[in-house]
Amino acid sequence: MKIEELLRSRRTINEFKPEKPPQELISKAIELACWAPNHRLTEPWRFYLLGSETAQAVAELNAEMVTEKKGKAAGQKKLDKWTEIPGWLVVTMVKPEDSLQQQEDYAACSCAIQNFSLYLWEQGVGVKWTTGEVTRTPDLYDLIWVDPSTEIVVGLLWYGYPKEVPISQRKSLDEILVRLP
Ligand SMILES: Cc1cc2nc3c(=O)[nH]c(=O)nc-3n(C[C@H](O)[C@H](O)[C@H](O)COP(=O)(O)O)c2cc1C
Repeated sequence: MKIEELLRSRRTINEFKPEKPPQELISKAIELACWAPNHRLTEPWRFYLLGSETAQAVAELNAEMVTEKKGKAAGQKKLDKWTEIPGWLVVTMVKPEDSLQQQEDYAACSCAIQNFSLYLWEQGVGVKWTTGEVTRTPDLYDLIWVDPSTEIVVGLLWYGYPKEVPISQRKSLDEILVRLP
């Protein structure tokens, strides 16, 4: 795929086929993610690949949270949906000392996630980046064995072969571009 087509066609995927993409492909996507720009070469990203046991535990944790807020039926519905997701990855960033560095490291992690997503998209694999409430709970940190005083969860990434590809839109250049003299 040409870069323009890749950038335009990549979509956040919500529905996946059951088949899990090969591990070598995901490892390569992670390796390529790390070629993202990062100020002062902090390489702040860390990647946690979840096996089925941990993924199930995260799905159950999320379902518990949904049940508490919206009731049993809603929790069960979420659990059923999350249990079907084939690939799970949590991206964290190492907590830096100051807030400017934290901002820059978060930006770098975002670039890394985009690298990861674009490479996989070119290979026919879709990704969804989520930052739902579950990603901010201490229980999630416990499940992935991460100390919240040293790392911050940037996102939970789901990946797999898309069942369907949503349509998306962007604002026109006139709405977002300011031309200065
Ligand atoms: C930092 C970040 C957090 C996101 N969190 C969520 C989320 O929690 N739930 C969700 O459905 N989508 C989430 N998304 C995906 C966006 O909703 C999606 O990128 C947007 O709708 C545009 O669609 P596209 O990625 O197909 O272009 C997130 C995206 C980013 C960059």
